[in-house]
Amino acid sequence: VRTIDWTGEHIVIIEQTLLPHQFTHITLTNTAETIDAIQRLAVRGAPAIGVTGALGVAMLALDAKKSGRQIDSILEDAERIADARPTAVNLRWAVDRVLRELPNGHDAVVAEAVAMMHEDIATNESMTSRAADVLLELCGKPILALHTHCNTGDLATVEGGTALGAAFQLHKRGALSEVIADETRPLLQGARLTAFELAERGIPYRVSADGAGPTCIARGLVDAVVIGADRIAANGDTANKIGSYPLALAAKRAGIPFVVVAPESTLDPSTPSGDDIHIELRADSEVTMLAGIAVAPIGSKAVNFAFDVTPNDLVTAIVTEHRVIYPAKTPKIEPWK
Ligand code: MRU
Repeated sequence: VRTIDWTGEHIVIIEQTLLPHQFTHITLTNTAETIDAIQRLAVRGAPAIGVTGALGVAMLALDAKKSGRQIDSILEDAERIADARPTAVNLRWAVDRVLRELPNGHDAVVAEAVAMMHEDIATNESMTSRAADVLLELCGKPILALHTHCNTGDLATVEGGTALGAAFQLHKRGALSEVIADETRPLLQGARLTAFELAERGIPYRVSADGAGPTCIARGLVDAVVIGADRIAANGDTANKIGSYPLALAAKRAGIPFVVVAPESTLDPSTPSGDDIHIELRADSEVTMLAGIAVAPIGSKAVNFAFDVTPNDLVTAIVTEHRVIYPAKTPKIEPWK
């Protein structure tokens, strides 16, 4: 079942805020619904919000065609979609890519967005199978235990995943013993979504409290850490879900690989370093409440950074659909040609 689909007119997504207890789809029929779904994380994960944004622009193009408006009239709403969340560069990248079709007319914009949806699946297949090879090589063992954070599986993409997709590939090869999935507070993408995907596939897993991640690594429970990314700066600094950085520190200290699996569309050569990455700050209530129940004194303020930056010297390898980048040997990541 795909995370995102296109009816020819509208976008259908899995409603991720209700997982793992309810598996339902919702249909997005306009820009307001698309932005809302992205902002409240009904659809989330860098590649998934990119494709949703592109299809949101396709809906705008179809509306403009039906009401006889010039294609340029969609620009303002397209910008609003691109700005719905700031950290994952895939959203801006995807909207800009479909907007490049504006001179070719309404249908070309729609066709490009739909092509991107299909492309995502092929991209993930090639990236995750390369990442599985890289993990086996870096760890030098035939069967691996992996630590991961947030959700980077099917649900973070159209289908196939990024970092968790590499674990799926290893499982298919009989080369995976276990995945330890951080719960990923505050919104629990690890406990709710990653555990759900692993359970569905029959992959052995355990959920760990976020604070326990570094201890799992220090105690030798895993052979490598594998995570996704929301934006990778030109120097290899990598933004990912808050809580990724402590895992990278622990992996370095334990001497195990810390591998980032992300499509080329997550590389942002125009951002020089992690210091320049805009980190999304989300509502205090996500931290002070849990499933609607206050877990801090009423009126408590929170600091709710949605992402952190792992400095390049802690990243062993970045695996994309086209290449493996070793930040230690790559002072400046160039765009793939
Ligand atoms: O806030 P989210 O759930 O959109 O955050 C998602 C992540 O941080 C993922 O790890 C990242 O987008 C890589 S997804 C393949």
